[in-house]
Amino acid sequence: MVNDKRACLHICVTCRRDNRQSEPEAAEPVPGRLLHDAVAGLLDRGPNSSGLEVQPVICLANCDRGCSAILSAPGKWAYMVGGLGPEHAADVIAYGEARASLVRDVSAACPVEEENAFDAAVARAAEVARPGDAVLLFQPIVGG
Ligand code: FES
Repeated sequence: MVNDKRACLHICVTCRRDNRQSEPEAAEPVPGRLLHDAVAGLLDRGPNSSGLEVQPVICLANCDRGCSAILSAPGKWAYMVGGLGPEHAADVIAYGEARASLVRDVSAACPVEEENAFDAAVARAAEVARPGDAVLLFQPIVGG
């Protein structure tokens, strides 16, 4: 079950990285499935402090750019990446955890507030910033 507050990696388990149109051999491993299983295995073994989840999906309509994955979170934009393979499992996890890491690291240096819309972020920055302050508006990997 998908946690309703944390980021989730949706990995296409039917992706073939070589963009073949022919049917694969029955015993042939599907690269998308291998990527999903590798990511799931690493998340099971590691600390996964961000609570990142992984879900298998069947076709993200990005078959020409497989293996494909989507990073999503409730109330946030979702991002698709393609051209992946099982060897990218650790990179996919780093991508999924980047938002939490970025917020944590920046929070150590200065106040961080999050808004779900750019207009709201600009309005909030204008409200709290004083003359001479620097305001950093950034859209994290899973952001609004
Ligand atoms: S088979 Fe993976 S995006 Fe279509």
